[in-house]
Amino acid sequence: MSENFDAVDVITAKRDKHELSDDQIRWVIDAYTRGAVADEQMSSLAMAVLLNGMNRREIATWTAAMIASGERMDFSSLSRPTADKHSTGGVGDKITLPLAPLVAVFDVAVPQLSGRGLGHTGGTLDKLESIPGWKADLSNEAMMRQLDDVGAVICAAGTGLAPADKKLYALRDVTGTVEAIPLIASSIMSKKIAEGTGALVLDVKVGSGAFMKNREDATELARTMVELGTDAGVRTVALLTNMQTPLGLTAGNALEVRESIEVLAGGGPEDVVELTVRLAQEMLQAAGRDGDDVGAALKDGRAMDAWRRMIAAQGGDPDAELPVAKHTEEILAPADGVLTQLDAYAVGVAAWRLGAGRARKEDPVQAGAGIELHFKPGATVRGGEKLMTLHTDTPEKFERAKEALEGGFTIAPEGSRPDLLPLVIDRIS
Ligand code: URA
Repeated sequence: MSENFDAVDVITAKRDKHELSDDQIRWVIDAYTRGAVADEQMSSLAMAVLLNGMNRREIATWTAAMIASGERMDFSSLSRPTADKHSTGGVGDKITLPLAPLVAVFDVAVPQLSGRGLGHTGGTLDKLESIPGWKADLSNEAMMRQLDDVGAVICAAGTGLAPADKKLYALRDVTGTVEAIPLIASSIMSKKIAEGTGALVLDVKVGSGAFMKNREDATELARTMVELGTDAGVRTVALLTNMQTPLGLTAGNALEVRESIEVLAGGGPEDVVELTVRLAQEMLQAAGRDGDDVGAALKDGRAMDAWRRMIAAQGGDPDAELPVAKHTEEILAPADGVLTQLDAYAVGVAAWRLGAGRARKEDPVQAGAGIELHFKPGATVRGGEKLMTLHTDTPEKFERAKEALEGGFTIAPEGSRPDLLPLVIDRIS
């Protein structure tokens, strides 16, 4: 980097609501990655961005600078087109598990670089690691081989991809600056563009269990990411989807793998099937393929075959028993009535406290911990019936999990109608 700037000048410029120049942005990202800008300076700049925002040019330059901090992958030698999906994170969001093999059935390669969970939202790698033998870490060569042979890979992003984002994301996590739309958009899109996928479908979650609590913010995030992707030559589309209530009937690692296998076997909860099929159709369309037959591939075993090959290719035993928690406790319906709300955030926090998630990134997770839901909002229940089953290896955690669920569900008098949002709220392209 030829020009030198002063970190304090960059911070005060954004603090005073000025636009940062392209050179200032390139310098600060590069200097931070090299360690020449200190964590306390970068966290101050991140807070200034959270409070005062960035315009489209600033976000594009920030994203490009994060991409330039590391390597770029290239899938152009593959014989098929590539498509990836990214979810902004939610409770019970296991869609990647059935989705990646389903899309691979249609001769589209799915290079799904995923993360581990932090806080109340689960991580795809934590879920798959509950399968005995399955390994998240693959070399770039092994990933390419698997994309060629199986067509789908779900693995950890290597350390070479957008290292500036890795450092900045860890800093944002402990400085209250995760929720800045320009920073979320550039963080997600720098990794996806560096990964080299040809097409990308974004699942932007809206509601209590998501980063974006309201539709306006989710729409702005989705638009920003679609613009970044499109400008970088990636065919990008976003769906805004409901995260007011958990997806499916499980939240927790092995519990979610079990539910995903039900979907791959042609069953499973309606909302998980609906979103899997819709996202697969969007990915296939973005990759230039016809997705009419997607639902059938879940029913007739083609997606299950691809799942089994994908798991086995990474050392996993698709026939192994999944881990089960040592202790369970039931939450019962307090009265007859209609379940009018079941809050995603409350369920996510309770599952996390049971051991399904981690507070620090080096903490282990319990494979069997989590929550099974026996009803979805809109269901009529009888007093004393099981509403949820809590699972953990550490029963001293039941009390704190139950505290998280207080106020997290409502049983209204019979005849009440819950105010339910559709699963897919909007599409932005
Ligand atoms: N996921 C990311 O990768 N980055 C963010 O900033 C938020 C969610």
